[in-house]
Formats: sequence, C-alpha cells, structure tokens
Amino acid sequence: MASSVEYVVPSVQTALPGPRSRELLEQQSRVVYGPMREYDEMPLVLASKADWILTDVDGNAWADHQSCWGSTPLGAHPAAVEEAVIEAQARYGMEITDYVTSEPVISLAKRLVEIAPPGLTRVAPSVSGTLAVESGLKFARAATGRPMILSFLGQYHGEASLLTAALGTDLSEVTTGSAQYVPGFVFAPYPNAFRAPFHKGPGPYDDGMYIDFIEDWLLVHQVEPEQIAGVLIEPIAGEGGILIPSDEFWRRLTGLCQRFGWMMILDEVQTCMGRCGTMFAAERWDLRPDLLLLGKGMAAGGQPLAGVLGTERALADSDVHSGGTFAWVPPACAGALAGIDAILRENALDNVAQLAAIAEEVLTPMVDQYEQVGDVRIAGAFIGIEFVTDRDTIAPAPAFHRDVHHELMRRGVLGITQWGKWVYRMQPALNMPPDLFRWSCDQVRDAVDEVSKRPPEEPQILDRWQSETRRARG
Ligand SMILES: Cc1ncc(COP(=O)(O)O)c(C=O)c1O
Repeated sequence: MASSVEYVVPSVQTALPGPRSRELLEQQSRVVYGPMREYDEMPLVLASKADWILTDVDGNAWADHQSCWGSTPLGAHPAAVEEAVIEAQARYGMEITDYVTSEPVISLAKRLVEIAPPGLTRVAPSVSGTLAVESGLKFARAATGRPMILSFLGQYHGEASLLTAALGTDLSEVTTGSAQYVPGFVFAPYPNAFRAPFHKGPGPYDDGMYIDFIEDWLLVHQVEPEQIAGVLIEPIAGEGGILIPSDEFWRRLTGLCQRFGWMMILDEVQTCMGRCGTMFAAERWDLRPDLLLLGKGMAAGGQPLAGVLGTERALADSDVHSGGTFAWVPPACAGALAGIDAILRENALDNVAQLAAIAEEVLTPMVDQYEQVGDVRIAGAFIGIEFVTDRDTIAPAPAFHRDVHHELMRRGVLGITQWGKWVYRMQPALNMPPDLFRWSCDQVRDAVDEVSKRPPEEPQILDRWQSETRRARG
C-alpha cells in the first residue's frame, strides 16, 4: 500500500484472539456482566490506537472502520483535540457546568449555533446521546403542551429504560425480554427501500407509503394530530442498517410537521459532524428541525459529551432541565470545539466525498456480483452492506455476515458487526487516507468472495423472513 501519509500497515499475525488477548478476555469474563463476557465478535484487547490504526496486546494491527462507533471522526486522538482537552483539564479540572460555567462552555455553545442548520439558535448540554434524546422529548412536550411522540420502528436511540421500553429500540439486540410498553408513543415503520413492509413488489417503490400510513391509519385510528408534540427521527438510520429516506419522504414529513404543529426532533447523534458528508445530515435535505440531538462525533475523540440544539421556541424559555453532573465539563467542551475547527480546517468533508466515491466504485458492484450482497448503502463515510441468503427471497443472512466479519478481522479490517444482524457497517474517520480506505474496501470485496465460496448455513429462526418480506425494488 503506497501512501503519502505514514501509518502502520494493518497486519494480523496470530489466531484470534491472540494469546495475551485471550488471557485478558478470560480474566474479564470472570468479573463483568453478561454482554461483556462474549468476545467472539471482537476477539482482541486494545493496546493502543494511532490515527486510523488500532493495535492489540498481541501486536496485531487493524484499519479502524468503527471509529469508537463514530466518536473519533478525526482518528484516534487528533493532536489539536488532545492538546485542547489536556490544557482545559489542567486549567479548570472537572466542573459542573450548569452551576459554574466557564469559557470553553460558552465558546462551544456559540460555535454550535454558528454551524447549526438555520433556526437553531439555542443549545442545551448533555452527557450522552441517550440523555440528549430523553431531553429532546421533554423539550418538545413542554414547548407544545402535547403528550405524544411519533417515532419510527427500526431506529435506535439509546439504552435508557424509557427509550428501550418505548422507542422500538433494536428489539433483538438490547431489549429482548425486557421491553415494556409505555404510553406516549406511536410508530410508523422507518423508510426502507430494500425491505419495505407494505410493498408487495416487484414494482415501483415509493417512500411516500410511510406517510400514507401515518395519514390514513395512525391519524385516523390511533392518535389525533393535535396530541402529537413531535416526531423523533434519525435522518439516516444508523443501527437500523444505514437506511436513507428519499427526498419525497422528507418533503411530506416536513409538510405534516408544519400542518399539525409537530416539532421535528432529529436524532443526529450518529450522523452529526460530517459523518454523512455534510456537517449535519439535515443539510442533505435542507431540513429545518426544531430540535437536533448531538453526540458521538461531537466529542471528536476528546472527552464524552452530547447536546441538544433547538429553536427559540423549543429552548429559549424552557424550564426543562437537561444535562447533569458530567454534562459539558470544560475539558470535553474544549476538545469538541477543537474538533469542529479541525474538521473545517482540514477540509475533512472533501475527504469524505473521496471515501464515498471509492466505496461506490469498489463495494456497490458487489450487488451484481454476489448473490449474498443484497444492497450497499453509502451516505458519505456511513456505509452499510446488507447480506441476504439469495436474491429472490432476500432472507437475512446473519451467518454470512458473521463469516465476512471474521474473514475481515483476519485480514486487518475492523468494521461494525452485531451477531444476529446482517448489515455490515463501515464508518471510518472522516480523514482516513483514501489509499487505506481503498485497500480496506478491496479486503471487504475479497472477504465476501471468499465466504461466498463456502456460504454458511443460516439459522432457521429467520425462515419467517422468507415468506414475509419481498424485494422492494422493481
Ligand atoms: C441515533 C442514536 N441515538 C442515540 C444513541 C445513544 O447514544 P449514546 O450511546 O451516547 O447514549 C445512539 C448510539 O448509538 C444512536 O446511534
């Protein structure tokens, strides 16, 4: 791999996990809770990270396409962010911002308002994406005096008990056996061109069907429009498998919001700060949310923080509290500010356009080349590859997905997988060198090729998909 930028070349020299990783993982599994005891998905113990390369305690190195689930948009620990965090830590230490404020807090709030989509003139601090979502719902209900939230099935908003109980969050992954059904929410399916629930295909597909469902069913049989405070929606569903709604969908949803006075609560926890090629995904459709929820990439690889951007109406005179002890401690704010400046200064969004073009060139053709590649979806540096057992039934292929991930781990590419799911995701740092990204995409293609020669047996439990789903595209 020739590159103008220096980095350690990915290379995996041991079986996975390597001997030292195995020893440590076994120690961990004796003392941690259930979900952390399994290490089949990620069979390594981190030793260090530098830029786009992640190294384990056995000396294996991977190209990082996970980026701390999107929280390190400029690579592992960008110098500008690290310096700002350390300087602010030395100067201010930890401080509870909603009691004692400081300059980094004020500068960050001003900067966010400067770069935000038009109309978002206020900021509320938060600790995590989950809490930003919770606050967003409270703000919308308080500002409108209405009780209900309209949301979309197949999204992910975090793991607070309200969200897992109420928001259709990833039933198989995080709520199995613990979902409770709380009042205050109604749902429509999230637009999914590949697996449209109401589409009997083949034939023309149109995202407007979800809005028809809201208008003709939900608002007729379940809830009066005047009861709805706001619509909680991800502009592109991340955990749901990189689902990208159409222009028409947004046009009609915006129309409903205006007609009925619903606040648009845009969950950009995963899509903010350049992930999809624009600073906010809202810019792709020129959306005008009333509330925009931030997290992950906002931290820029510094210290954790999240937040809510809102209109004057939603936030200026609100008496709803957001935040908490750890919300916007000064070092986290200093790091976030340095991160925003670095994304703009380094023209990281131009690099994202290059990465997206490479993904289009190398990954998209797999749909025609491999029976098991159902769909490739690319929104900037937010990429999903959906695996299916075959083209006709498009039944989900979680075992194929798992084997591709294992193969990629052996080849030095670390992306996002979750057992039981069938969309492999890549979200590299926005500034990953294009040659490293191209090499990684080549590895993905080769791994798919390899696994397609020995397709694994898929679990029978997913048989129902074969009869219930239809190819959505004509
Ligand atoms: C869209 C979205 N909202 C909210 C969250 C929750 O954020 P956090 O994990 O910081 O609580 C996530 C996390 O993946 C997310 O993807």
